[in-house]
Amino acid sequence: MSELLRNQEAMKEAQAEVRRVYGSKGYVDESKLHELKYLGAVIKETLRLHPPVPLLVPRENSENCVINGYQIPSKTKIMINAWAIGRDPKNWNEPERFEPKRFLSTSADYSFKGLNFNYIPFGAGRRMCPGITFATPVLELLLSNLLYHFDWKLSEGMKLENLDMNESFGAVVKRKTDLNVVPFCYSPYY
Ligand code: HEM
Repeated sequence: MSELLRNQEAMKEAQAEVRRVYGSKGYVDESKLHELKYLGAVIKETLRLHPPVPLLVPRENSENCVINGYQIPSKTKIMINAWAIGRDPKNWNEPERFEPKRFLSTSADYSFKGLNFNYIPFGAGRRMCPGITFATPVLELLLSNLLYHFDWKLSEGMKLENLDMNESFGAVVKRKTDLNVVPFCYSPYY
């Protein structure tokens, strides 16, 4: 929601899509989530810039190995910086920019399966997140409902350019300060 508020074009496009796909149905359910291509890209772009588990979960290698010429002895604690990987200019054009369309105009595999090491918000390999198939429809349902039923504005006196995007680090990363927004009801019927 923070990124969509800061990027009004993306907000308009995601909102138009969900309102077109669900039309006069009056509510969003699971039946057409697969048609929300742009909304899916919004979620991917959000997880690229703001992975909730930015350093994944610490791991330990059981055997000696060599990676990029570096000898890694067994039992080394391995931290993977998924946050930095998602913003690496070697892999991403204008990495700091919130641009969901980058996921629509590519043939690269940006599913969450951890097959593309440039994009690993759910980790990769045998110990990657087993909750993906639960997490993704929940995110899609939540966001599409918020966008279908309401238009959103920042609360009185707040300016988009001053929106605090700092994050706080804990078990998972989240906004440091609350996002205060005002919902305006939208109805497909009037
Ligand atoms: C947007 C939502 C979520 C994100 C971004 C996320 C991300 C992650 C990441 C990065 C890891 C570490 C993977 C690695 O080290 O390679 C992980 C592990 C794990 N996640 Fe998630 N997760 C999410 C939702 C969920 C949900 C909904 C569940 C359960 C219903 C779940 C259950 C787990 C479990 C059990 C592990 C530990 C797996 C293991 O070590 O074998 N996650 N998750």
